[in-house]
Amino acid sequence: MTLILKVDPSNPDKSAIKTAAQIIKSGGLVAFPTETVYGLGANALDGAAAKKIYEAKGRPSDNPMIVHIADIKALALIAAEAPPAARKLADVFWPGPLTLVLKKKKVVPKETTGGLDTVAVRMPDHPVALALIREAGVPIAAPSANLSGKPSPTKAAHVIEDFSGKIDCIIDGGSSRIGLESTVLDLTSEIPTILRPGFVTPEDIKDVLGSVGVHPGALGAVGEQNAKSPGMKYRHYAPKAKMVLFEGAKDKVLARIAQEAAANKGKRLGVLLFDNVPEIPKENKILVGAGASGGVETQCRIYDALREFDARGAELILTQGIAPEGFGLAVMNRLRRASGYNIVKV
Ligand code: TXA
Ligand code: MG
Repeated sequence: MTLILKVDPSNPDKSAIKTAAQIIKSGGLVAFPTETVYGLGANALDGAAAKKIYEAKGRPSDNPMIVHIADIKALALIAAEAPPAARKLADVFWPGPLTLVLKKKKVVPKETTGGLDTVAVRMPDHPVALALIREAGVPIAAPSANLSGKPSPTKAAHVIEDFSGKIDCIIDGGSSRIGLESTVLDLTSEIPTILRPGFVTPEDIKDVLGSVGVHPGALGAVGEQNAKSPGMKYRHYAPKAKMVLFEGAKDKVLARIAQEAAANKGKRLGVLLFDNVPEIPKENKILVGAGASGGVETQCRIYDALREFDARGAELILTQGIAPEGFGLAVMNRLRRASGYNIVKV
């Protein structure tokens, strides 16, 4: 049985948080909302509890998890050292969608870090997540709360779809504001390097640190050897349908999508767009992002759209690529991987 607790996202009920925190403290699994995506949480300091997450997700056990904290003081508990860069970034971006990879302390079990001697840490910007971590009194390890390989969850219904009956508790705190996972920044390498792009952009980090590297895996396929972040080497975020991503100048991309949509009329079609293509019927398309391409500022509903196409039984998904700049870098990282690198340059 999975307990479902519906709470007010901005002011969660104390007794609901207590109940969920008790489950974390006793080694159980609780899915909870964050501003990026929903997380599937367990006590990060309890190896046996962390192990349950891998089993529930069907996640390879070498793929480390992000440890969520609610107070900057908790950093000293889990990280062996916090370089000045970590302090500066935490000052500017926490709570928020930035994850820092640091050398870990012994108390963090290898189950949580997938056997690595580093730990990824983030302070989420969500009242429910923060209240849960505080009440549990321990840092919470949480990957995105989706079955391994599926699109990440941005609302409780997605988590229920994947985990109903398989985990102890799901806190329903509405839709995730950002809708895409956090930026993962490695601070253990010589040059701070973005391993996974997210809402906090390379430019944002450069403004604070002066310089930042972006791992080549952020946009292209990576071989096992180059996968600095184990999560890079697995196919991810994928809908059931075949997905094709069109990249190039906006006008050309939109014209080509209109053409392909017309040619595939006989199929159950899903078209994911940042800009409207009027020729494509309403029932076939979902418009995502806060506005036109390049203007993806807040809500990014790409995961939501991919799950929606699955639910409608789409056979083919056509997708508009956007410029991989700013937040667009993160969007394109997810779309390329979701398509299995099925990319058409136009
Ligand atoms: O926004 C988010 O980051 C969400 C919410 C729940 O906080 N969490 C999330 O977790 O996306 P997950 O497990 O789906 O992705 C974590 C990523 C993976 O690519 C993993 O390989 C990488 O972070 N990672 C975790 N620990 C690492 C470490 N010690 N070194 C390098 N990469 C690490
Ligand atoms: Mg994930």
